[in-house]
Amino acid sequence: MVKICCIGAGYVGGPTMAVIALKCPSIEVVVVDISVARITAWNSDQLPIYEPGLEDVVKKCRGVNLFFSTDTEKHISEADIIFVSVNTPTKTCGIGAGKAADLTYWESAARMIADVAKSDKIVVEKSTVPVKTAEAIEKILTHNSKGINFQILSNPEFLAEGTAIQDLFYPDRVLIGGRETPGGQKAIETLKEVYSNWVSEDRIITTNLWSAELSKLAANAFLAQRISSVNSISALCEATGADCKEVAYAVGKDTRISPKFLNASVGFGGSCFQKDILNLVYICECNGLPEVAHYWEQVVKINDYQKTRFVNRVVASMFTAVSGKKIAILGFAFKKDTGDTRETAAIDVCKGLLRDKAKISIYDPQVTEDQIQRDLTMNKFDWDHPIHLQPMSPSAVKQVTVTWDAYEATKGAHGICILTEWDEFKQLDYKKIYDNMQKPAFLFDGRNVVDPEKLREIGFIVYSIGKPLDAWLKHIPVVA
Ligand code: NAD
Ligand code: UDX
Repeated sequence: MVKICCIGAGYVGGPTMAVIALKCPSIEVVVVDISVARITAWNSDQLPIYEPGLEDVVKKCRGVNLFFSTDTEKHISEADIIFVSVNTPTKTCGIGAGKAADLTYWESAARMIADVAKSDKIVVEKSTVPVKTAEAIEKILTHNSKGINFQILSNPEFLAEGTAIQDLFYPDRVLIGGRETPGGQKAIETLKEVYSNWVSEDRIITTNLWSAELSKLAANAFLAQRISSVNSISALCEATGADCKEVAYAVGKDTRISPKFLNASVGFGGSCFQKDILNLVYICECNGLPEVAHYWEQVVKINDYQKTRFVNRVVASMFTAVSGKKIAILGFAFKKDTGDTRETAAIDVCKGLLRDKAKISIYDPQVTEDQIQRDLTMNKFDWDHPIHLQPMSPSAVKQVTVTWDAYEATKGAHGICILTEWDEFKQLDYKKIYDNMQKPAFLFDGRNVVDPEKLREIGFIVYSIGKPLDAWLKHIPVVA
């Protein structure tokens, strides 16, 4: 029986390994993590992450050929293939702080493999890493080698949260990069065989190591660039009376462009886009390519601009006086169908409103109060460094309440901000909400979830990203 061990039981390691176990009954898969709490949760009825379809897959395989454990050494030493799926956050201090990837977690995993391995291993980069990381990892592994053959593969993951199980079941492609040596090619074939259990041959792409590593950074940069492109156009739509939805539809009809990923929003979030683009920018700078670095950096700058623009719009519309006013936040997760809040636009929007001394009442169907308060008191880039967790700031806690009901969150509020596109926000009784709010009642839709015309009929003053402004908002100057 082939044995797989995955180091890192997070958003990628957990679902990916669960699907491998489901699709490959003859393979034993063990997911290990340094976090006892995470492993305990994976072994319980309350999984540590919310992902549609995940629970079903885990229930089918757990205890059969899928295991979660904290006994890292044992399972690394027994495995034939080791996936490394640890976090690779942005560095928070030292050289490259705020841009470069922090490979501390990756390196400690690699050192652990080097220390405990007693037989040949295929080590698979599942984490998103800077191009050329495999070279560094090879050095660590072979330096400590006791005659053991290590083959490094790059097999970046392209799943998106909220659709992870579908993405894993039906991937657009599986990418495997390896050394162009007989040993490297044999390792590629071994990993290909694993995926061949459910992915057709034409969707499994093999490349050299550096192409695979760079393709992941490039793919995320291209995706994020589309969002910043449409978001930049959304600002121009508001200024001119064009409708961003209509523009995106017309543009996306061109088959060379495609309609996907053209939804204007309050800004992209998630643990990947910003981190991976900043990492790409840093790599370009290190390779003496400042023009290329500036080009990609602009994608992040437009995203920051979009979030700031939204906050400024809210404050300016409400007479530049939100101090002490209750503003309801509907949605805190970085997108629908996940409880993940990493780099969510909601953090920056809430912090902006708190700076203007607004009182905030938040409702999200999947995010806990504890998580929200931690997010609002953490410094930028600290979220993915568990050891840096900040204590809560009592002043922020005082101004923020978290409810488990949209009607409760909006009761008595002067304004509402929709920051996540949860389906249930489309179905709310906005007449009932309006009746229970202060007047004039404002609604700022950062996701184009509601029909602005219908809400205007109820009596709301409505702002929807990239949509024509109503009479009141048109005359409010907004500093971006
Ligand atoms: P995560 O933070 O959810 O999970 C990482 C896990 O690794 C944590 O549970 C942590 O405790 C564990 N870990 C860290 N160091 C360890 C060590 N030395 N030994 C054992 N466990 C260790 O992160 P994630 O979202 O799963 O992302 C993992 C990687 O995959 C990142 O490089 C990310 O960029 C990439 N990625 C993420 C997504 C996504 O949607 N989240 C998609 C594609 C790629
Ligand atoms: C992304 C990539 O899609 C995935 O391939 C990669 O493996 C990890 O990073 P993820 O961050 O989970 O996945 O979600 P994604 O669907 O890409 O959304 C990212 C952010 O962009 C979200 O905040 C989302 O709301 C926003 N978005 C997406 C838009 O604002 N407009 C769009 O049209 C699409």
